[in-house]
Amino acid sequence: MRTIEEQGHVFEEWLTPEQIAADVQQVANSINADYKDKEPLFVVVLNGAFIFAADLLKKVNVHCEVTFIRVSSYWGMASTGKLEFLVPLQQSVRGRDVIIVEDIVDSGLTIHQLKAHMRAEQAASVTTAAMFFKPEKLEFKDAQPDYIGRRITSEFIIGYGLDLDGFARNLDAVYKVKQ
Ligand code: IMP
Ligand code: MG
Repeated sequence: MRTIEEQGHVFEEWLTPEQIAADVQQVANSINADYKDKEPLFVVVLNGAFIFAADLLKKVNVHCEVTFIRVSSYWGMASTGKLEFLVPLQQSVRGRDVIIVEDIVDSGLTIHQLKAHMRAEQAASVTTAAMFFKPEKLEFKDAQPDYIGRRITSEFIIGYGLDLDGFARNLDAVYKVKQ
């Protein structure tokens, strides 16, 4: 099993690029079916979702637009509990079928707040596509993602866009912290 060290923690490889690609394809298939006759606006949550979004959107075959938002709610391995809009929405969501693209839903705070924001901005509908979902950690029930790459346990993971203090986003596999 491949292991790496990041910020003094040891991580071991947990998902291969092939396993990740299969999960992403399944998310794309569901979105393609559900949005066949719509024209969704994907709102990609930076930084973490950039790799998932790139892979997912290449497999989405419906007519769509993509925009980006940057928020921060996390530092180190524990949530700070508040959301900061570092880059606000650059495009109106009014009347649009919005699909929020997130790397991982943990407490659900980020998605809970983003959904409230999209509703306040009068989006026609709002769904969420998350590469990873930690159901045991969900605190905000309305943040349960509609499209999920993989349900996981509550351990901290890195790679495939997910970071530890800014590092490890570039890894093509996903690594789990070694207990
Ligand atoms: P939430 O707002 O508590 O749902 O947290 C969502 C954000 O926390 C994600 O977009 C990630 O940036 C970060 N996060 C949560 N769990 C992990 C993890 O296991 N590894 C890396 N980042 C994580
Ligand atoms: Mg994120």
